[in-house]
Amino acid sequence: MIKVSIFGASGYAGGEILRILLNHPKVKVKQVTSRQFVNQLVSLVHPNLRKRTDLVFTHPDKLETCDLLFVALPNGESMNYMPKLKNLANKIIDLGADFRLRNKKVFEYWYKKEHKRPELLTQFVYGIAELHREQLKKASCVACAGCEASVSILSLYPLIKHHLIEGKIIIDAKMSSSQAGVKPSLSSHHPERAGAVRSYMPSGHRHTAEIIQELSTYNSNLEVAISATAIDMVRGLLVTIHTLPKKNVIEKDVWNAYRTEYQNEPFVRIVKEQQGIYRYPEPKILQGTNYCDIGFEMDKITNRLVVIAAIDNLVKGTAGQAVQAMNLMYGFPETMSLDFPGLHPI
Ligand SMILES: NC(=O)c1ccc[n+]([C@@H]2O[C@H](COP(=O)([O-])OP(=O)(O)OC[C@H]3O[C@@H](n4cnc5c(N)ncnc54)[C@H](OP(=O)(O)O)[C@@H]3O)[C@@H](O)[C@H]2O)c1
Repeated sequence: MIKVSIFGASGYAGGEILRILLNHPKVKVKQVTSRQFVNQLVSLVHPNLRKRTDLVFTHPDKLETCDLLFVALPNGESMNYMPKLKNLANKIIDLGADFRLRNKKVFEYWYKKEHKRPELLTQFVYGIAELHREQLKKASCVACAGCEASVSILSLYPLIKHHLIEGKIIIDAKMSSSQAGVKPSLSSHHPERAGAVRSYMPSGHRHTAEIIQELSTYNSNLEVAISATAIDMVRGLLVTIHTLPKKNVIEKDVWNAYRTEYQNEPFVRIVKEQQGIYRYPEPKILQGTNYCDIGFEMDKITNRLVVIAAIDNLVKGTAGQAVQAMNLMYGFPETMSLDFPGLHPI
């Protein structure tokens, strides 16, 4: 049994880690932090956890030593705490953006702030198990991927590794409101957010840097563009990716690439049905699950290979990915506590 704590447990990602870990037979959750809810029951903030835990929130200053610390703070915060946190825990899994990019200058370009701990950047292993399984088994520090980056990297990795596409890759992302975290703002205010189809970031999305970092191993000339639209959905993320197949690439090549890379992956499913209403991936039926569903279609008329993929941003996009990494780091079965199949209808 390992003892873990969650720094930033009153937030959406932290709450989701707690939900998953309360079912984990090899984990005891020791402390969960919040500055706003010190000494209050966790179930006050996460009502789904009523009668599942009697944990109360601890102030971050009172964090004690543990085996593994999950850090679920807003982007730009974990680097302020990191040297101290490394003294508290042998292993750290950070869900934020601070240690995802290996290059300080790339981080500073995309996040428009100075990186305060650049010397630690190379100590972190990027958290996508499907790409970094062997490194994660030996890792003491992990930086989980951003949610758009997670679903986009999983969609594109087989196509780029197997040299099936060329030219610019255009990722059209449909985003849910929980991606913005628990802190309210005018744009998340119900009258402004409900019913919205809002072009949130037509260009310049920060996760572009992660996608290029991870996939440039297989193609050093990658051109990736993301356009993100906020839609009326609480959880979930759908990407429609427009790519240009190389000459003579046929559907069978695409099937082969996905099968080769993912047939033994427990959490990646290829979804391309001939009939029914769920012919392509949909985030709705993935809520609470650690799956990434990927589908595709060859458009012969306009010579496109269109890839469609979906995840739950709070699970495969962050907390589930983090627990999957933890399972690998400790030699637990990789799927332990992550086997919820989702709900239908929902
Ligand atoms: N939401 C998603 O869909 C998603 C997806 C992928 C990755 N992530 C990543 O996960 C991380 C957390 O995201 P989230 O959506 O869960 O954020 P969130 O809902 O805003 O939660 C942030 C948590 O951090 C605590 N906190 C905030 N500022 C702090 C500070 N300066 N010092 C100590 N504690 C602080 C907050 O609690 P108190 O204010 O009570 O202390 C809260 O528990 C982010 O870095 C994000 O990039 C999120």
